[in-house]
Amino acid sequence: MAQINAVTDLSYDGEIAVVTLNSAPVNALSPEVQDGLFDAFSAAAASEAKAIVLTCAGRTFIAGADIASIGRSGDHTLADVLALLDTIEKPTVAAIHGTALGGGLEIALTCHYRVAVPSAQLGLPEVKLGLLPGGGGTQRLPRLVGVEAALDIAVSGRNVRSAEALKIGLIDAVVTEGALVPDAVAYARKLVADAAPIRRVSAMSDKVEPARGKPELFDAFRAANARRMRGMEAPEAVISAIQAAVDLPFDEGLKAERKLFIERMMSPQSAALRYVFFAERNISKIPDIPADTPTVDIKTVGVLGAGTMGGGITMALLNAGLPVTIVEAKQENLDRGLATIRKNYESTVKRGSMTEAEVEARLARLTPSLDMQAFADVDLVIEAVFERLDVKQAVFKELDGVCKPEAILASNTSFLDIDQIASVVSRPEQVIGLHFFAPANIMKLLEIVRGTKTAKGVVATAIKLSRALGKSGVVVRTCPGFIANRIMRRRAEQAQALLLEGADPVVMDKIIFDYGFPMGSLTTMDLSGLDIIPDEPGKPTVRIALAEAGRLGQKNGKGFFDYDAARNPTPSPEAAEIVAAFAARMGVTRRDISEQEILERNLYVVVNEAAHALEEGVVVRASDIDIAAIYGYGWPPYRGGPMFWADQVGLAKIVEALERYFAQTGDAMFEPAPLLKRLAAEGKTFQSYQPG
Ligand code: NAI
Repeated sequence: MAQINAVTDLSYDGEIAVVTLNSAPVNALSPEVQDGLFDAFSAAAASEAKAIVLTCAGRTFIAGADIASIGRSGDHTLADVLALLDTIEKPTVAAIHGTALGGGLEIALTCHYRVAVPSAQLGLPEVKLGLLPGGGGTQRLPRLVGVEAALDIAVSGRNVRSAEALKIGLIDAVVTEGALVPDAVAYARKLVADAAPIRRVSAMSDKVEPARGKPELFDAFRAANARRMRGMEAPEAVISAIQAAVDLPFDEGLKAERKLFIERMMSPQSAALRYVFFAERNISKIPDIPADTPTVDIKTVGVLGAGTMGGGITMALLNAGLPVTIVEAKQENLDRGLATIRKNYESTVKRGSMTEAEVEARLARLTPSLDMQAFADVDLVIEAVFERLDVKQAVFKELDGVCKPEAILASNTSFLDIDQIASVVSRPEQVIGLHFFAPANIMKLLEIVRGTKTAKGVVATAIKLSRALGKSGVVVRTCPGFIANRIMRRRAEQAQALLLEGADPVVMDKIIFDYGFPMGSLTTMDLSGLDIIPDEPGKPTVRIALAEAGRLGQKNGKGFFDYDAARNPTPSPEAAEIVAAFAARMGVTRRDISEQEILERNLYVVVNEAAHALEEGVVVRASDIDIAAIYGYGWPPYRGGPMFWADQVGLAKIVEALERYFAQTGDAMFEPAPLLKRLAAEGKTFQSYQPG
């Protein structure tokens, strides 16, 4: 065996050369890996070997670009390696295990043949970062698997498993798990024995020819996926690149891909998505809670209350494989809660995302009870009873008496103070907020609320639990509304103010929808229910006026909008009358309001409130707020969240607008937060802000 460089070996098994990469942990494409590949393939090409196998040591094939080495370069670029691979005159075989993603798959696509073990997965995930594959992936993939499959894979960015990869022609053979290298060498040997042709994917055209000169195929794909791709630029760039693969010779297609790639790389959307990627990885890093903080093993969980949230939380826990004991006050409520859980699971089975057996396995882990004593042995209880401090304090006292001393007592409260809840128990350091978002089995955000006395190990345990549940756990200090509800409530308040001042509800919701939210501000309130959204106490609001008139939102088919049986909103003359009457009663003058004012007032108040929260230390960094807004309220990830977006707009511009609206309305909500003003004056950003 010859060592090519620190991460690459070249060996020979009879007539077959074997290039082995060994760059832990995931053989990512670093300058060293590229140089090693270039030199090893050059040597193997010049040798007596009749075929070359490329394989990777460790747990995976090349899993993508090496983000840590961006900005560093070696002797050879990825393009050099690909160009070399494309000219080699003996068969090359990529032997794939683990994942072959992004640049990793582009290397495999440039080999002449591909074999993979059954557990392997292949994909081009660049679109998820607002990019497109820039190493010929959009040109070679359609030549290998056809336009339809290529569009599906490269536009979704999803992973393709071996069985499917074989079916669509992405790989040539599935080999034995655990015997990848010997099987790949045997495969190469057979190619040599059969005098199999060199299959340069760049030279293939039979799979793309049927689509040539048929732009309608691409338009149909665009139309079918319009909803999924709404507002996002990268999917369209991928489609254009694949269209170039169909219509242009290979080299020109590569140039078209390159141009699109550079445009994407420079785009604000990709900057936002790459930022979100790192923001998500940072949420669990809490400065005063080191990564080695001891945690408790959560093996069993109790849920108190089988209402909307208790049921959803139970499903989230069951889905993660945890046994759950659920306790309700009354038999009928328990029955209703269990029936809802079962119904939700059954609809998952109907959609084909779960099997009957999987549902039964989950439900077998669920123990219902009417007696809190059933919590005696659980490691954690999550309380989801009515949102009233006296009720919560009473149940926490009871839990304190029932649960073992080391058990963690958590509340799912949305607005109450964790410290006040903790004040009634003998173990305040074991009390924490675990604020799930509805529906709790689906929404990715989990706010982990630290009380003043919450022990660090309890916070660390909650962070670990959030991961086990597949959620993004954002750690917050207790404050009214914590982070996501606190900041987004401002949007709800502005939407109501604008409505009173004369904004058209349909226009306003369309502006927010077009910004990229899943729905408008008013529709969001209708979905929550107009009778349950908390406002500032004692302040009359148009929401209350509507609720008092029996317009409770989507749940009874009428709120800010009217809803049909399919829950489609239409403008409501009755709501318009109530709004006009309320505006008259409050002495609000109605006027025409520009689209710009509607957008800015809906969203700048969110940024402003977030600046207050950041300065108060509710979260440890601005990007945690972005993750909370994205996963709690559907803030479009390609905008990066409110803080990243504000940085892109420019903090000085936001301060100027807030001051203008403050002068115009007198509403204190617009008074720029001190931190926002300071950063703007210093020409700084939220991203650069280090609390403390
Ligand atoms: P819900 O009214 O649907 O359910 C509450 C359940 O608790 C009822 O089934 C009730 O019978 C039961 N319960 C009341 N007292 C009890 C006791 N002493 N022992 C056992 N069970 C008892 O309410 P929902 O919406 O599930 O809210 C529960 C908590 O979750 C509240 O603190 C709420 O603020 C919070 N939350 C609600 C969200 C939502 O969107 N609905 C979102 C996030 C948090």
